[in-house]
Amino acid sequence: MSLVVLGVTGGIGAYKSVEVVRGLQRAGHEVAVVMTESATKFVGPLTFEAITQRKVITDQYAAGANADIEHISLASQADLLLVAPATANMVGKLTHGIADDFLSALYLATTAPVLMAPAMNTNMLSHPAVQENLKVLSNRGVQLVEPGEGYLACGWIGKGRLAEPDTIVEAAEQILRQGGDLIGRCVLVTAGPTEENIDPVRYLGNRSSGRMGFAIASEAMARGARVILIAGPTAVEPPAAVELKRVRSADEMFQSVSEHVDQADVVVMVAAVADYTPSQGEAAQKISKEQSELTLQLRRTPDILGAISKRRGLRSQPVLVGFAAETTDVLEKARAKLKSKNLDLIVANDVSQPNSGFGTETNAATIVAKDSEIPDQVIGLGPKRLLARVIVTRVSELLTKSGDRPTVNRLEKA
Ligand code: PMT
Repeated sequence: MSLVVLGVTGGIGAYKSVEVVRGLQRAGHEVAVVMTESATKFVGPLTFEAITQRKVITDQYAAGANADIEHISLASQADLLLVAPATANMVGKLTHGIADDFLSALYLATTAPVLMAPAMNTNMLSHPAVQENLKVLSNRGVQLVEPGEGYLACGWIGKGRLAEPDTIVEAAEQILRQGGDLIGRCVLVTAGPTEENIDPVRYLGNRSSGRMGFAIASEAMARGARVILIAGPTAVEPPAAVELKRVRSADEMFQSVSEHVDQADVVVMVAAVADYTPSQGEAAQKISKEQSELTLQLRRTPDILGAISKRRGLRSQPVLVGFAAETTDVLEKARAKLKSKNLDLIVANDVSQPNSGFGTETNAATIVAKDSEIPDQVIGLGPKRLLARVIVTRVSELLTKSGDRPTVNRLEKA
């Protein structure tokens, strides 16, 4: 399942965009709709809201819109930006980088592929200004769905009407399929905190929300992978359509990872696993607070990544990615973990920085590779999905380089 952001601009073809949404949904994609003000004069936002079950963005400056992180992060979450219909005005704005409404700003902000279905009066379409703009966009990598020929709403006959919804959906599908660099691969992701019970009412935990791991799971899934997501207790909802395994403690996470790791081509350990757990296990009764001081005896939890790495031995798969959440000497400590756990990549996460790391919607990190010839990759502060996209791309490159066949095939052979 991919997320398609559909930009609807002000042309009579806007009514056909409703069918485009339906077609994309039938193909299994989620659709978020962005409308220009003039588009709302042709079709009401309520129509799109009802069929997408999501807020329709019509005004960049609406009160509250910029406090809504889902809204802001659309640029990084989108797997495809589709503009249908694209008017001559919008084509011109996008060509020249004018960002005076939400859709044109989104076009500049997203790194997702862009597909455009122009629709306009036949003379407007053949005007050199429009033709040159379309050429510039096409040279820039924007893909175009040719307008259809026939009777136009303005009464003219010629080329310019919006392509049929099925044609637009098929073009979108083709682009989304190209992005499937993980088709046939299985990615195991861990996310969230673990909780170590002290007694029936207390536990040792940490501040992980699960968001970073969920972003990686969503990204891998959007690129065609089968995703096994092993998550500790979180209030944030995990992405739909992953194979979700809920665990609570570090020991449970260890068990679940051990059970599933043989199916995985890639393991990304994002979870903030407790390093210690009460040595005596959970007390049967609530510990009373009579004493002025209480000493808890703790033991180390199993090193999950370390164990998988040992099991992998000299083989190149599964590709192993760890995270290192640190507050001081971040890069040195991350490098030490990369080496001691024999990982392929480690994501050094300085969690002392504002809006980074635990609980936040955004993150910044440095990706360090095992191969010391490869320079560190610094990813500045942005939505977690953006960081996830870079990490998954690095993983995909490693899979291609290793030349190993997907696990499904290896299992078939076995
Ligand atoms: O969930 P969020 O709120 O979005 O926050 C994201 C995050 C801050 C949790 C995430 O970005 C992050 O940094 N995760 C790693 C947290 C961590 O526990 O790091 P660590 O340095 O303690 O562990 C190093 C690596 O070993 C990690 O990949 C960890 O999953 C793994 N580990 C740790 C302990 C253990 N017993 N077994 C392990 O495999």
